[in-house]
Amino acid sequence: MLIRVLLLFLLFREAAPEEQTEFTFNGFRGAQLTLDGGATITGEGLLRLTNTTKKIKSHAFFSTPLRFRQSLGTRVSSFSSTFVFGIVPEFTDLSGHGIALFFSPSKDFSGALGNQYMGLFSTSNNGNSSNHVFAVELDTIQNPEFGDIDTNHVGIDINSMRSSRSVPAGYYPSDGSGFKNLSLISGQRLQVWVEYEGDIGQLNVTLAPMEEPKPRVPLLSSPTNLSDVFLEQMFMGFASSSDPFQTSHYILGWSFKMNGEAQALNLSSLPSLPQRETRKATKTWFIWISIALALFVLGTVAGTTWFVRRKIRFSELLEDWEVEYGPSRFAYKDLFMATEGFSDKGLLGTGGFGKVHRGVLPNSNLEVAVKRVSHDSKQGMKEFVAEILSMGRLRHRNLVQLLGYCRRRGELLLVYEFMPHSSLDKMLFGHNPPKLDWNQRFRIIKDVASGLLYLHEEWEQVVLHRDVKASNVLLDGDLNGRLGDFGLARLYDHGATPQTTRVVGTMGYLAPELTKSGKADKATDVFAFGVFLLEVASGRRPLEPQAPEEEVVLVDWVLECWKRGAIVEAADQRLSYTAPEEVEMVLRLGLLCCDPMPTARPSMRQVVQFLKGEVPLPEFTSNYLNDGVMSLIYNEALDDQAPSFTAFSASRSLLSGGR
Ligand SMILES: *[C@@H]1O[C@H](CO)[C@@H](O)[C@H](O)[C@H]1NC(C)=O
Ligand SMILES: *[C@@H]1O[C@H](CO)[C@@H](O)[C@H](O)[C@H]1NC(C)=O
Ligand SMILES: *[C@@H]1O[C@H](CO)[C@@H](O)[C@H](O)[C@H]1NC(C)=O
Ligand SMILES: *[C@@H]1O[C@H](CO)[C@@H](O)[C@H](O)[C@H]1NC(C)=O
Ligand SMILES: *[C@@H]1O[C@H](CO)[C@@H](O)[C@H](O)[C@H]1NC(C)=O
Ligand SMILES: *[C@@H]1O[C@H](CO)[C@@H](O)[C@H](O)[C@H]1NC(C)=O
Repeated sequence: MLIRVLLLFLLFREAAPEEQTEFTFNGFRGAQLTLDGGATITGEGLLRLTNTTKKIKSHAFFSTPLRFRQSLGTRVSSFSSTFVFGIVPEFTDLSGHGIALFFSPSKDFSGALGNQYMGLFSTSNNGNSSNHVFAVELDTIQNPEFGDIDTNHVGIDINSMRSSRSVPAGYYPSDGSGFKNLSLISGQRLQVWVEYEGDIGQLNVTLAPMEEPKPRVPLLSSPTNLSDVFLEQMFMGFASSSDPFQTSHYILGWSFKMNGEAQALNLSSLPSLPQRETRKATKTWFIWISIALALFVLGTVAGTTWFVRRKIRFSELLEDWEVEYGPSRFAYKDLFMATEGFSDKGLLGTGGFGKVHRGVLPNSNLEVAVKRVSHDSKQGMKEFVAEILSMGRLRHRNLVQLLGYCRRRGELLLVYEFMPHSSLDKMLFGHNPPKLDWNQRFRIIKDVASGLLYLHEEWEQVVLHRDVKASNVLLDGDLNGRLGDFGLARLYDHGATPQTTRVVGTMGYLAPELTKSGKADKATDVFAFGVFLLEVASGRRPLEPQAPEEEVVLVDWVLECWKRGAIVEAADQRLSYTAPEEVEMVLRLGLLCCDPMPTARPSMRQVVQFLKGEVPLPEFTSNYLNDGVMSLIYNEALDDQAPSFTAFSASRSLLSGGR
């Protein structure tokens, strides 16, 4: 008897932890989720994945793993899941990185990167089949690194951010009216269905506005065999990463079922989405206040002058063509407040393009750097703004991100994400012992190379930087090198007449042909990058007017060392090198990039391959016919430009006159 009871008890115990095979959350109030990063459940029951004030990766897991197969040899069960999400860009049309529904063997993503990796992978494990991660991404950024098709797509990611399949976001309405686009970042509530059929290995992903029934035709239907991806037990959840952009990623409801159709969400009981704080709303608000104020102050002369002064202070230029850039436009008033009236206290620096101020945007507390560029030509402004903003749509981890702009009479304000460390030149020069060791420098060099390669070859149009130099390289919180000011030099091109062609760039970084023709191309950028390499490796400025004559021009001096067969003498002697061949390679590559013959210079793609060691550096042979060529070329300009050698531009006549 006792034994029977015991047996029953044992049987019962064996059977007791009945495996969970489904769940439904209509709103997440009190839900059993494991949250990390910036993920929180709000009082209304919204699952909010990103915290816009912090740049982090976030995950929200269903707390326990689910069994997807009996053992590794057996097939992966069919499953189905549906969720409602909303991406609300509160400030601009530029969004964060989107959301992924993912499946993984573990809840530990501490090694994963945020940003474009969405908190799922890192540079070292992206693409590795031992990740066992499957994700459906709702991606709102076009990242050429991962071959993204556009800035608004749905993709299937297997162990990699490089999607195995992806399609622009949209749906086939059930009324048969044909494909309709959907914007993921519209702030609209959208529903997603993910269905996997285990026996035939088919994955369907369907998207639709929340109000509409599930479309019969999926957005994406793809043969997908998850046998090699899924382990027996897998966790599942949502991942997102925040950005300097004011974007909130929300999940409103979620259901899942193994071997069957996930329970439909009760849409009427889902929490509502916080509405996007549109620029328009704030504008009308501002206009109303202004009108009220105007009425009020009309009565008093003092009041009137105050109002006029205020109007002038905050006046901006807004033309019809700018309407389409509305969301990327910042109000001058906000920028004025953010920087405390562009006070000197927050002055980060003064570059060739103008002053840069640090600021904290009202409402969002987002830290930004505001660059005030003065310009006189109205001509070409439209093209320039279009170009600058189209660049702002793309992101690369080695470029300083542009967030938006504002225009005033004679002034263009560009708003960038704030970089906590100063520019590279400030770290490189004037510190003894040096602040950056060789490994840090080498990494920054590779960062800048990949940023420049992106501008030259990976973005849909070729973007010339035209002013590559250490002071245009900023360092982020992790000391990654990020190239700033790209494309800005274009401003000086538009509307310029041929006679007044200006050589854009910085003395010491100008390629010989550039000083003659004034025509920039990829090869002139590569030349400047070569000087930058020499600069970082030697810890010397490209022009050192105080140095002994043969050392004034860095390129000539390194070339001199190379001719003597002692190129390593040009390396920064204050550093210790665990791998001296690295610095030698960088110096030789620098010379290669500084070849006087543009065609002899490598492309940025080759440069990146050399730096990564994927391709050995070819033997350098000098095309410089006589010694001190660069000194000669810079000579006259040097006299005229002294003492400011970092002048942003020199007019063509100044450089070539008298030759
Ligand atoms: C973001 O996180 C910080 C620190 O955890 C917190 O103080 C802040 O309130 C959060 N912001 C939002 C919008 O949730
Ligand atoms: C994939 O990851 C595993 C485990 O982390 C590692 O041992 C392996 O070398 C990686 N493979 C590649 C190609 O990086
Ligand atoms: C959908 O968007 C794509 C690209 O964004 C565009 O080419 C296409 O014309 C759009 N289709 C519709 C029906 O609006
Ligand atoms: C999936 O792949 C496994 C081996 O990797 C294979 O045994 C299985 O038949 C495949 N399933 C389908 C549906 O193709
Ligand atoms: C996936 O979509 C196809 C049509 O494209 C359909 O025939 C199939 O039944 C769907 N599978 C599931 C599991 O819904
Ligand atoms: C859906 O939610 C509403 C409001 O919470 C509730 O009144 C209704 O009974 C729910 N419907 C179902 C089918 O559960």
